[in-house]
Amino acid sequence: MSRADLVVVANRLPVDRVVSEGGESWRRSPGGLVTALEPVMRKPDRAWVGWAGQPDLDIAPFDFEGARLVPVALSASEIEQYYEGFANGTIWPLYHDVIAAPLYKRRWWEVYVQVNRRFAQAAADVVEQGGVVWVQDYQLQLVPKMLRELRPDITIGYFHHIPFPAYGLYSQLPWRRQVLEGLLGADVIGFQRQADAGNFQRSVRRVLRYTTRSSEVVVPSAEGEPRVAIAKAYPISIDADAFIRLAQDPDVQARATEIREQLGSPKTILLGVDRLDYTKGIRHRLKAFGELLEDGRLSVGDATLVQVASPSRQRVDAYAELRDEIELTVGRINGDYDTMHHTAIRYLHQGFPREEMVALYLAADVMLVTALRDGMNLVAKEYVASRIDNSGVLLLSEFAGAADELTSALLVNPHDIDGMKDLIMRAVEMSPGEQSRRMRALRRRVLDHDVEDWSQDFLTDIEKVRRVRRGA
Ligand code: G6P
Repeated sequence: MSRADLVVVANRLPVDRVVSEGGESWRRSPGGLVTALEPVMRKPDRAWVGWAGQPDLDIAPFDFEGARLVPVALSASEIEQYYEGFANGTIWPLYHDVIAAPLYKRRWWEVYVQVNRRFAQAAADVVEQGGVVWVQDYQLQLVPKMLRELRPDITIGYFHHIPFPAYGLYSQLPWRRQVLEGLLGADVIGFQRQADAGNFQRSVRRVLRYTTRSSEVVVPSAEGEPRVAIAKAYPISIDADAFIRLAQDPDVQARATEIREQLGSPKTILLGVDRLDYTKGIRHRLKAFGELLEDGRLSVGDATLVQVASPSRQRVDAYAELRDEIELTVGRINGDYDTMHHTAIRYLHQGFPREEMVALYLAADVMLVTALRDGMNLVAKEYVASRIDNSGVLLLSEFAGAADELTSALLVNPHDIDGMKDLIMRAVEMSPGEQSRRMRALRRRVLDHDVEDWSQDFLTDIEKVRRVRRGA
């Protein structure tokens, strides 16, 4: 098998398997990570190691759009214990400030270790001598250390797409030492915000007693000289030009007009777009909107909320419960306020292609991003990029990573329902002049720092390490 100079390792492959009468085929998956790494994968000598998204698929490596894809097989019980269990029942809620209660199950941890080892081995087998492996996200925190042991010749990067919690929470984790050691196997450890990198460094000092100085962690080594790992923020972004092009497309614009008409041409369309996840603050948003209708500050003829909640992790209890709660709430609000012509909330438990999403962004006068905790939130950036005429208002949670950059948004504390209601009214009533002033500043930031800058910044730091290594 040919080897690759740069190997991406992520829980999921960048493709979805489609089985039809004609047999099996692969389609590029729509997620943010795939787009984020697209410029990286476009170059020659690239491979991607990941899970194909279904149980027990034992598939040989294959080529897709010029890159080598290396599937990692997971059994049904591994999916349950590694993916639904440790990754999404332990780490995900713990790292999102225990919005839902994390479960600490020893069996889940054992399977997480076992599956991380399989990913590490697959990457070790495909990376060429002196190459680079870039590990993605919380499902694979142990892979950097495992890889370093298997392949001391390579340079290792890790990017953490979700928040890293404060030490007071992180310290709950029964395996807090092993996870930090796993991450510190990387030469460069990237986070979304400065605060995440700071939380990580503090945990490293408290749990491992290692020294840190600015963005460096000194990692002692049994063999001799200590090693320096970089731990700092590289805020991820979007392919802004792709969104601008779609927003300029006459078909997409016509679709936006059609959406407004189909909703009964309300004065204001509010929009929420999220994976159906308890971190996204969907319930808080519905509560605020429902109360505005109840108070008579809004009416369904004035305002409709479109809520896209794409299906996610449906076999994890907290997600199934959240879905029930949200659907009960939406049903109640619509039952109380809908008329024959207008609906309060148009709720869509579906995913849509990017064209339709941009049409929705163009139709939406107010975008509501009210996450209780979020690593970055790319929807906020997508909305901003799509607003090519500088109109529209972004209401953005202070607890989303994007708030560090998008400071001209209306920043909201989603726990403060009265405050959120007032801000929604401010957004609905905002003058075109103020909208445009704010939107220009937001767009400048997103266009100046797109996803290609993100991967370049990270890989430049990786290259520096690799050069020093080679020199040595
Ligand atoms: C978040 C995570 C990703 C994950 C995505 C979708 O953005 O940071 O690692 O892939 O959610 O979740 P899923 O569990 O379907 O992969």
